[in-house]
Amino acid sequence: MKKYKITTFGCQMNVHDSERLAATLEGMGYSKVEEEADADLVVYNTCCVRENAENKLYGHLGYLKTLREKKKGLKVAICGCMSQQDAVIEKIKSSYRWVDIVFGTFNLHRFGELLQANEESGRMIIDIWKEHDENESAERAFVPASGREVKHKSGVNVMYGCNNFCSYCIVPYVRGRERSRKPAEVVAEVRQLAADGVVELLLLGQNVNSYNSGGVSFAQLLRMVCEVDGIERVRFMTSHPKDMSDELIAAMAELDKVCKSVHLPVQAGSSAVLEAMNRKYSKEDYLALIGRVKAAMPGIAITTDIIVGFPGETEEDFQHTLDVVRQVGFAGAFTFMYSKRAGTSAASMDCQIPEDIASDRFNRLIEVVNPIVYEENKAREGVVVGVIADEYDVERGVLTGRSDCNRTVHFPASSELAGQLLGKLVSVKITEGKPFYLLGEIV
Ligand code: 5AD
Ligand code: SF4
Repeated sequence: MKKYKITTFGCQMNVHDSERLAATLEGMGYSKVEEEADADLVVYNTCCVRENAENKLYGHLGYLKTLREKKKGLKVAICGCMSQQDAVIEKIKSSYRWVDIVFGTFNLHRFGELLQANEESGRMIIDIWKEHDENESAERAFVPASGREVKHKSGVNVMYGCNNFCSYCIVPYVRGRERSRKPAEVVAEVRQLAADGVVELLLLGQNVNSYNSGGVSFAQLLRMVCEVDGIERVRFMTSHPKDMSDELIAAMAELDKVCKSVHLPVQAGSSAVLEAMNRKYSKEDYLALIGRVKAAMPGIAITTDIIVGFPGETEEDFQHTLDVVRQVGFAGAFTFMYSKRAGTSAASMDCQIPEDIASDRFNRLIEVVNPIVYEENKAREGVVVGVIADEYDVERGVLTGRSDCNRTVHFPASSELAGQLLGKLVSVKITEGKPFYLLGEIV
């Protein structure tokens, strides 16, 4: 039996894409291994949002070349956002001729065929599409249990692409224009998943709030998805603050199955920087939105993305970012140093920030973020939260899952009990808030 190893970089979208690839391979009789050295096929699902993600791939290809020389017949495939860039394809063609298959974000449903074509011809296969073909990929969206990392959880793409063109971001160039899937198609996939044992969904899109299919809004889609029997919990990402409507806030508050957590990337606290980023909201707009979200759902966990060192960012601008962090009390924040991406409008802006200043701001940001996240976790002590048990550590006798408020929770259980609880919604009382997770006990 042939063995595969898929390495995924980047966001939840890529994680879900990798699950589709895994399901394709499982269907072809491959089985998964943890180490590349044990694999017959190594797949790299790449990200190009920041430069360091790109560097990781090139760094790793050197290792794979050596491995390939030792292990005859080892195949290497590269896919994902990086392969949608012409410059990357040129580089692979000139410097990494030995790579077997390169494909992109629009044709991953063709992976099986590309693999076969490579096997038959023994040649490098490069197949990059520049846009999405609705008829082709729709019916192949469903990921069976064989591909899913956690069997009772699945991502569901509700929309693809992005039209926002935030000035720093490469995504609209590699994932194309926004396209919303038809509600009936999404619901059919959700039914199929529920019948296949899925209880928790992550609705995926670069900007789910701007979902619109024949007049059906994202709030309406959420309602339709929540009506599917067997689905117990629904999350979604990512939300753009400018498109987070009152209709959606009301639907979230009303629908029991929708988790009371939301990822709302602020990116920066200064209105001037937000304008330069083309985010289309000000600091005040963002704080007002947070006020409305918290008023509708007290205790909701709000997470965010923050970039420091955007071109032209002054110390004063940066202080606004710290101020937002303090005012909102985020349950979690992904923090990044601005990374210049060729082709985006920010790349040609004056006053790029020197690395030492950006990295100093980055460190100071973390020093403010971490204690707040810890405090927010501490504030959960004594609260009973709903957790879907995802995995069991036999040695430690500990179940782990995610709370309604999207935090990782560890709680003890005997192996017998754990067997019954995996994939089930469990009431857990939080006994201790740790810096990045919660400890609890079953009630
Ligand atoms: N540099 C740094 N961070 C970026 N992001 C997107 N583009 C860049 C960039 N050029 C971050 C944003 C986004 C997250 C997925 O990645 O914060 O929300
Ligand atoms: Fe990038 Fe902005 Fe689109 Fe998010 S909304 S993918 S940050 S362009």
